[in-house]
Amino acid sequence: MNTILVTGGCGFIGSNFIRLQRELDPNLRIINVDKLTYAGNLENLAGFENDENYVFAKGDIGDAEFISGLLEEWSPAAVINFAAESHVDRSILDSGPFIQTNIVGTQVLLDACRKMKIPRYLQVSTDEVYGSLGAEGLFTEETPLAPNSPYSSSKAAADLLVRAYCHTFGFPGMITRCSNNYGPYQFPEKIIPLFIANLLEDKKVPVYGKGENIRDWIHVRDHCRGIDAALRNGKPGEVYNFGGNCELRNIDLTKRLLKALDKPESLIEYVTDRPGHDLRYAIDCTKAERELDWRPEIDFETGLAETIAWYRENAGWVERVRSGEYREYYQKQYGDRLSE
Ligand code: NAD
Ligand code: TYD
Repeated sequence: MNTILVTGGCGFIGSNFIRLQRELDPNLRIINVDKLTYAGNLENLAGFENDENYVFAKGDIGDAEFISGLLEEWSPAAVINFAAESHVDRSILDSGPFIQTNIVGTQVLLDACRKMKIPRYLQVSTDEVYGSLGAEGLFTEETPLAPNSPYSSSKAAADLLVRAYCHTFGFPGMITRCSNNYGPYQFPEKIIPLFIANLLEDKKVPVYGKGENIRDWIHVRDHCRGIDAALRNGKPGEVYNFGGNCELRNIDLTKRLLKALDKPESLIEYVTDRPGHDLRYAIDCTKAERELDWRPEIDFETGLAETIAWYRENAGWVERVRSGEYREYYQKQYGDRLSE
């Protein structure tokens, strides 16, 4: 591959993926298409301005003319679609942007790629499309889709479009579905960066319900390595699950964060639960191990310590991304639920 086009490259996972690709190949041309929503931050790729093999194009994946123009100009060997509205709580407050970007945006991108005969397309999806697990069992690639939130249903709709394009048009699309990511550059609205940022300022952390919900945590770099492996060795039409083999109840995660930051448990505040809150996600990633020779490498203890250190050292980044629109969101989401 000499050119790839990444969408949503200024977000959390996209920017980590671009950094990984640059590490792997200094000569790879990377085109990054990003609308720069509240979650997109040029600072996440600071230093790339001077990289002659990196091109940033500000725009919307739902803008057919803009996307077709870029594909014509650069003829990428692969398109990797990270661009999305990605936060469940925001999708509960307003699902409109989720339908627009996650579903319509994906459809526009698929049509443009099909028209331009792009040789490889990878849809970055989520384990949340499978719905919720009880105490037992794991999601496999065969688990029926049963999304429960506006976010996960919009991601599932996009996955179904990719599937339909593969089936109907022989489109060379793949789908990867990963569990909850953590690591540097994650917007401080998701639980780990939000709690770290609050605790660093001795602020309370809002645990939804009783904190019994379970997530399977994977370091963003392992997820990005998985996407890279799928791009290189995956088969068109296939789905690959990635997970971290690291299930934790939210309350146990919270206590680990408190301990690592040497903060008292009195900073925990149990708040009204998220409506429709999925109980448990857990991933069977044996297919990716077998077919892509991929497995997660970063253990949670080490990854979490590094992530905490990153947020400590990048308080200015947190401050800047939290300004403006985010303050309004925080007030809407937690204003009357969290005490001072
Ligand atoms: P993020 O919210 O940090 O970043 C999303 C990026 O997409 C931002 O840079 C934003 O500006 C851009 N964007 C949004 N709408 C756009 C549009 N219409 N056109 C162009 N760019 C647009 O999200 P993230 O956590 O990095 O997630 C990236 C992808 O991975 C998403 O598709 C998400 O569903 C998926 N995913 C995330 C996780 C996780 O734990 N964060 C887990 C599994 C899968
Ligand atoms: P989140 O980081 O929003 O990811 P997702 O909803 O995609 O899994 O939430 C992870 C878990 O943490 C989820 O069970 C909800 C819970 N949570 C809280 O308890 N408090 C919070 O303030 C947030 C943002 C999440």
